[in-house]
Amino acid sequence: MIGSATKIPYLLRATRNEILEPPPVWMMRQAGRYMKVYRDLRDKYPSFRERSENPQLAIEISLQPWRAFKPDGVIMFSDILTPLPGMGIPFEIVESKGPVIDPPIRTSQQVEQLQPLEPEESLPFIRQILQTLRSEVGDQAAVLGFVGSPWTLAAYAVEGKTSKSYSVIKSMAFSQPLILHQLLGKIADSIATYVRYQIDCGAQVVQLFDSWAGQLSPQDYRTFALPYQQRVVQQVKETHPDTPLILYISGSAGIFDMMAESGVDIVSVDWTIDMADARRRLGPDIGVQGNIDPCVLFGSQEFIRQRMLDTIHKAGNRGHILNLGHGLLPNTPEENVRYFFETAKNLTRSHLVNRPSTRL
Ligand code: CP3
Repeated sequence: MIGSATKIPYLLRATRNEILEPPPVWMMRQAGRYMKVYRDLRDKYPSFRERSENPQLAIEISLQPWRAFKPDGVIMFSDILTPLPGMGIPFEIVESKGPVIDPPIRTSQQVEQLQPLEPEESLPFIRQILQTLRSEVGDQAAVLGFVGSPWTLAAYAVEGKTSKSYSVIKSMAFSQPLILHQLLGKIADSIATYVRYQIDCGAQVVQLFDSWAGQLSPQDYRTFALPYQQRVVQQVKETHPDTPLILYISGSAGIFDMMAESGVDIVSVDWTIDMADARRRLGPDIGVQGNIDPCVLFGSQEFIRQRMLDTIHKAGNRGHILNLGHGLLPNTPEENVRYFFETAKNLTRSHLVNRPSTRL
């Protein structure tokens, strides 16, 4: 019983301002279609909702990358849309089309009818998934939960599907803002409840995905995305102040400085910003994650290694979690994912010499 029962997962140490060389590593969408074991399982269980809501399947899928690559973080297999049916918004994920919400939420009457999320009732499988993941990985990795942030969830609910222009939700924002604010407020309160529930079930870190908030102009980001990120973060911090929260936005360069105002502990950086610039703009009190273009994994192993070293060097030796700048893409070669993880784990001081020391 010496030590191991109380050892802190390496990834959590990065959230506590410790000097870590090399940095901890995991990948967004590390479970999924680029893995053959996942595709085989998907052939047997074609419904995404079944794969993510049947605890045995979701646990198995979450553990596939863990068994293959031993990342420092194990994220539960789920989707940002998973809590929506519990609020009265059913969805399906259709092969080659993506999420479908029918009917989409577009009227004040529909918004009024939405119910506050009661996770114990509508998401009992999440408890089993997170508890089992904790006992499977022990102190060898941190278990990550995640949620969609209100703007991005509202984008799916209002558009009804993945969108290129976001014209339906932006029309609502610009011509009927009160309806949208009412929807965003309801989603924010339910999502805060859901984050607290994930933490109570065993999540040690929770990532907020506001993937499509980078589609907003800076002034609209400040009106429709940031206040609702803050509402979620504030409510969670009131009851769970010690659980680190990460915020990810795709295409965030234009609104990047405002991400720090959300109140999260770590900002997940996409590849539209140089990591050194990200560090300067965020200041010393916020950690960083990500930054490597997922398409780098289509390059040669030497190229992958150079890009990893560049990001690690620029991020400095504290408060950095190595990750991609967005989720792994479906056709990524598995051997390159393996190479990324192995390289990350085998980096020693000599590779990292002259790395700037941050947050001193
Ligand atoms: O990181 C992990 O390993 C956990 C898995 C995960 C999924 N969805 C599984 C999934 C995570 C973190 C998500 C979050 C998610 N879902 C986001 C935020 C992250 C991001 O990419 O910005 C968003 C925007 C969604 C909504 C959504 N769900 C999309 C756009 C899609 C892809 C549609 C498609 O077919 O390309 C989904 C479906 C989905 N969620 C898949 C996976 C593995 C693919 C469907 C499948 O495997 O059959």
